[in-house]
Amino acid sequence: MALGERNIFNENFDNLMFPVRRVPWPSTWMNDEEVENKENKAIQKLETLLKTPTVAVILEPLVQGAGGMNMVRPQFIKKVSEIIKNNNSLLIADEVLTGFGRCGALFAFQKAKIIPDLISISKGLTGGFLPMGITLCKEKIFQSFIDDSPRKTFWHGHSFTANPLGCAAANASLDLLEKEPKKYLSFEEKHLSHLIKFKNLSYIKKVRVSGTIAAFDLDIGNKKGYFNNIGKEIKSLAMEQGLFIRPLGNVIYLLPPLCITDDQLGKSYWIIRQILDNL
Ligand SMILES: Cc1ncc(COP(=O)(O)O)c(C=O)c1O
Repeated sequence: MALGERNIFNENFDNLMFPVRRVPWPSTWMNDEEVENKENKAIQKLETLLKTPTVAVILEPLVQGAGGMNMVRPQFIKKVSEIIKNNNSLLIADEVLTGFGRCGALFAFQKAKIIPDLISISKGLTGGFLPMGITLCKEKIFQSFIDDSPRKTFWHGHSFTANPLGCAAANASLDLLEKEPKKYLSFEEKHLSHLIKFKNLSYIKKVRVSGTIAAFDLDIGNKKGYFNNIGKEIKSLAMEQGLFIRPLGNVIYLLPPLCITDDQLGKSYWIIRQILDNL
């Protein structure tokens, strides 16, 4: 919780959390002319902060999910990774949302052509069917806990570590992913073929796509993010037509299950379009 940006999610606990140093996230979208400028500022800030010895940098590679489907370019993540390495810090990639095909590669870190030191995964690990999470780390980090002295052991475990049903669901889901990579490899074009039809709507801003995730902001109402109620309204109108979406305030996004058919995706966009046209 302390790692996350201070916002509505955690502000009630503000004075209980340890301080964290943050780097701006250079979110980008289609036709964003400022992207390089934003990335340079972020890089500069990272380089300045890393002058102080830093244990680790944590980020969601390519897409900040609950933060608002904020996307960055793979080359930005690559540059960040190089700087972290050069400063002897560790890179922790939170792939809980971005992993398992979500961003158009099996893992987002692969699309960014980096190798993080630690990776957290869950959601897509079991296809979302059973709860299971894994923390992966490089061999070197793992070995640093191996010693004859119990003082070196990493003693923390969960009651349900390696739960057999969770593992079975994960294996089944991984088999499917391996067998059908097309389900996530070619998703971007599908989203774009629908989003192009939204292009003329003046209140649609910051259209962005990363693999299977598509999002845009609605420039309606004067409140941003979770404080904007337009998302709730759209959610209930969509539900009436059989489409379950969960806008993040004024950010409308589609993050469909990989088993969605082309017709179902088309219908989802059609429903959203009808709602927007009638707002
Ligand atoms: C990016 C990200 N990291 C971590 C978590 C927490 O994951 P878990 O509930 O598996 O601990 C979430 C949950 O939504 C998430 O979206």
